Amino acid sequence: MTSRGSAGYPIADQAAAPGQAPPHAVEIWLYSLIDEEPAVDAMRTILSEHERDRVDRLAHQDHKRRYIIAHARMRQILARKIGRRPEDIAFCVSPDGKPFLAPETPKPVHFNLSHCADNAALAICETAEVGIDIEAIRSVRDGFARRFFTTQEADEIDALPEGEQLPALFRCWTRKEAFLKATGEGIRRGLASFQVSLAADEPPRVIAIGDGEKAARDWLLYDFSPADGLAGAAALIAPHGAEFTIRELHTID
Ligand SMILES: CC(C)(COP(=O)(O)OP(=O)(O)OC[C@H]1O[C@@H](n2cnc3c(N)ncnc32)[C@H](O)[C@@H]1OP(=O)(O)O)[C@@H](O)C(=O)NCCC(=O)NCCS
Repeated sequence: MTSRGSAGYPIADQAAAPGQAPPHAVEIWLYSLIDEEPAVDAMRTILSEHERDRVDRLAHQDHKRRYIIAHARMRQILARKIGRRPEDIAFCVSPDGKPFLAPETPKPVHFNLSHCADNAALAICETAEVGIDIEAIRSVRDGFARRFFTTQEADEIDALPEGEQLPALFRCWTRKEAFLKATGEGIRRGLASFQVSLAADEPPRVIAIGDGEKAARDWLLYDFSPADGLAGAAALIAPHGAEFTIRELHTID
């Protein structure tokens, strides 16, 4: 069984030796945050009071719609996994803000959500913490990479032909955000505290965390393309490999 990154790289040796843990299975669900008003109204009813409060505090109708659909669809997908009704799922939040299923959930799974404009991506893994990020590939201020990334990453981007710089910058950005969202530390940790690969001809990987390469080797990064003009990456600790499945959600009962 071999699993490949979106660019076709072998991402792990999937053959589990006897007694060795099997590779993690990661599902990446992609869905749109656009729907008709009656459907959105129905989705609102399955949100928790806390989520409805957040919707009420959003100023723009588009932001309300996106939040409702992102969270209702996430509940529906998770509900199928854990055998609960979407409205009965209870979430907790880590001190740094990472949502997780309440400990009393019958079949706890790890998950992480990312949304960008009208697109959402939800990563689910039963056996390991996972992080996911999607971003629109767009122009950024001069000096952006040097401000947020490591010196090596910024140098590598600057050395590329101009037309290749933005895709490389967003490969770097989504991989880093996915890593930070897997650890749950979010932006608190600092994007320059670890280094990722970003060249188009190099497999996605964490190169070093702090000064060390050893812990970095246990991490697995995976690139995917959520939609035209968007970059996406998922991350998890997976010394024995992982198999990624992309699922597109169009409708759900
Ligand atoms: C919140 C954060 C984890 C990601 O934010 P983001 O990339 O803007 O947003 P995403 O859509 O990818 O993720 C948001 C979701 O992540 C989840 N999340 C929130 N805090 C989290 C954390 N600490 N760890 C993991 N997931 C988290 C939530 O489900 C959230 O969805 P919700 O707000 O609808 O409840 C945080 O890292 C952040 O604020 N990043 C800012 C990025 C930035 O400024 N980058 C600079 C240049 S690279």
